[in-house]
Amino acid sequence: MKIRNLLSRIFCSANKAQENYPITLETPRLLLREHKPDDLDRIHDISKSKGFVYFCFDGTREKAEEFISEALRTQRPAPKTGRRENHMLAIIEKSTGELIGHTCMEAVSYLKGADYEVNFFVDPKYQNKGYGIEAILNLTDWGYRTYDLASMTVTVHPKNGPSRHLIVKEGYSKVDDVTIKTVAGSEPRELFLQTREVFYRQRANDTRPILLSQIDGSASPDGPKP
Ligand SMILES: CC(C)(COP(=O)(O)OP(=O)(O)OC[C@H]1O[C@@H](n2cnc3c(N)ncnc32)[C@H](O)[C@@H]1OP(=O)(O)O)[C@@H](O)C(=O)NCCC(=O)NCCS
Repeated sequence: MKIRNLLSRIFCSANKAQENYPITLETPRLLLREHKPDDLDRIHDISKSKGFVYFCFDGTREKAEEFISEALRTQRPAPKTGRRENHMLAIIEKSTGELIGHTCMEAVSYLKGADYEVNFFVDPKYQNKGYGIEAILNLTDWGYRTYDLASMTVTVHPKNGPSRHLIVKEGYSKVDDVTIKTVAGSEPRELFLQTREVFYRQRANDTRPILLSQIDGSASPDGPKP
């Protein structure tokens, strides 16, 4: 009996690992897909846009290369845990096929029971069109469904107005102040937490369908139906 349980756990975790690569998520206006080596030029272009700030970029090609390498490295589960350390996805505008940004769901350990945080950036040319929120909500929905999570976190620089606005509007609450490593050294961040229940309740406020599950009717206040 014990051996059967062990074998079933091994097969289940192998299936789960396979299920989680490659990730391709379709949203009403976007496609979220795994990064490819060819994304380097666009990522570098975005990272050196005037006024653009993201913790791992300084506008050099070297940092863009490191970003793509990390995306490719974390496409497979870490041998120690059997889970992906990160899920770094390109945001593609469906109507043009253009890469317009990035979103990711990274394993973190700020709070017990909140094992992943979401992060994101959008090319300044494409900001304020609702693409950022559409991307992170669809990845969050995927995360809640795939890993059966109770909550997720986001870290935001205290002076990052657009990101803070978006996160607070989405029902995240500030729970702590933390420090993260960035290309410019250690920097402060506000740690925000959102529960799965709040996430699915928020969907009732959406003025347009943002998740495909809203179109098929499976988004509910208690989370996705099995
Ligand atoms: C944060 C970011 C991804 C948002 O992307 P986006 O595609 O513009 O987001 P959306 O269009 O979905 O939403 C933008 C919201 O921010 C608001 N906003 C824009 N500029 C703002 C500002 N300076 N201060 C406050 N709110 C602002 C918009 O009014 C909009 O709110 P609304 O939906 O209530 O009208 C984008 O600003 C970005 O890439 N920033 C640089 C990287 C970054 O900071 N990443 C987040 C790390 S936590």
